[in-house]
Amino acid sequence: MAAIFQGKKILLGVTGGIAAYKAVEVLRLMVTAGAQVQVVMTAGACQFVTPLTFQALSGEPVRTELFGPSAEPLEHISLGQAVDAIVIAPATANCLGKMAAGIADDLLSTIILAATRPILVCPAMNVKMYENPVVQENVAKLRQRGFQVLEPSAGEMACGAYGSGRLPEPADIVAAAAWLLTPQDLAGQRLLVSAGPTYEDLDPVRFLTNRSTGKMGYAVAAMARRRGAEVTLVSGPTALSTPWGVSRHLVRTALEMQGVLQDLFPQCDVLIMSAAVSDYRPAGLAAQKIKRSEAEMLVKLTHNPDIVAGLGARRQHHQVLVGFAAETQDLLAHAAAKLQRKGLDLIVANDVTAPDAGFAVDTNRVTILDRQGGVEVLPLLSKDEVADRLLDRVVTLLAERRG
Ligand code: PMT
Repeated sequence: MAAIFQGKKILLGVTGGIAAYKAVEVLRLMVTAGAQVQVVMTAGACQFVTPLTFQALSGEPVRTELFGPSAEPLEHISLGQAVDAIVIAPATANCLGKMAAGIADDLLSTIILAATRPILVCPAMNVKMYENPVVQENVAKLRQRGFQVLEPSAGEMACGAYGSGRLPEPADIVAAAAWLLTPQDLAGQRLLVSAGPTYEDLDPVRFLTNRSTGKMGYAVAAMARRRGAEVTLVSGPTALSTPWGVSRHLVRTALEMQGVLQDLFPQCDVLIMSAAVSDYRPAGLAAQKIKRSEAEMLVKLTHNPDIVAGLGARRQHHQVLVGFAAETQDLLAHAAAKLQRKGLDLIVANDVTAPDAGFAVDTNRVTILDRQGGVEVLPLLSKDEVADRLLDRVVTLLAERRG
């Protein structure tokens, strides 16, 4: 996230709903990711959270007044033009109505009317209010006029009601804001990404697995979505939550992963296999927990299918296939052999012996190999940056296929 917000100016508009407290976290995440944030609050928002809270986190005076001694002349015009993007979170029914009708009766609504920058609106309100046809009409009008509206999430609300109307998680709002600021060079492309480990069951309480957490694959999925792709993630067991805007299928075993990928592969333009798929599984699954005994225990393993090689054999001409190679020795030689054997376009060679690369950490150090013998050595980068660099290569390959 850091790179995308570095040097960016964002106007965060906060309106008067209970979810205003979540806007504090939205601000904190944006500032942590390098953004300079100007907060503008309505009078209603100031009833829920004090401007001082936002000021302390943003390091900037919070704007609240259209008129009066604290109002700067002409900032109701300049503020919406001087930033890179505007995010309104939460946006109340009243705020949506004013934006849809072109009413400008306070500082935030006036800024919005004069704004020339992309605007992300995050409605949050009681479910009945959100379902009201007039609110739905206003949302549709805003979408038609080019506002990006983030659908509220469903769940239990502060008022005790259950349904759609909750402000999405702050991390998702920030991801959507990052998307608003990112060139959409993967728009129209369907990416299928695998991530995480597989669990191969031995008995009802034990399984074989590996050290993959899914971080690398989830970073690829999130970055591809940010760059405009339609992304489907097929994930082994992980503690990570679904990246914003990505559709996720959870699987457990290599065979389950193969089944889901086989179904989805024909509809994708790009497959990125970052999952650490187990090459073997126990030959038999014990129905009951295996008891300790005096005798030594030998576990017989049988091969799992090579998923990506199987998909590669059925690829259509336009499809791009990318694999990862997790290696502990002879990194480039092993990776190059896998690139050829599995019929891939690119392979990301990953030395998993380094403490700052490979499994479970937030950074990675990889080399990208292509079919023409090209070798691109990347320095130590965050997994987000590795994903971005890998997707640059994918964009180039897609352009070559088209041209
Ligand atoms: O999840 P993290 O904690 O962030 O860790 C990231 C990672 C180290 C798991 C990731 O960067 C990585 O290297 N993923 C590939 C791991 C792996 O299984 O490598 P491999 O060399 O065994 O397999 C080569 C390729 O074949 C991979 O694309 C793999 O998905 C695929 N494969 C492997 C076995 C199998 N039965 N079917 C497959 O399709």
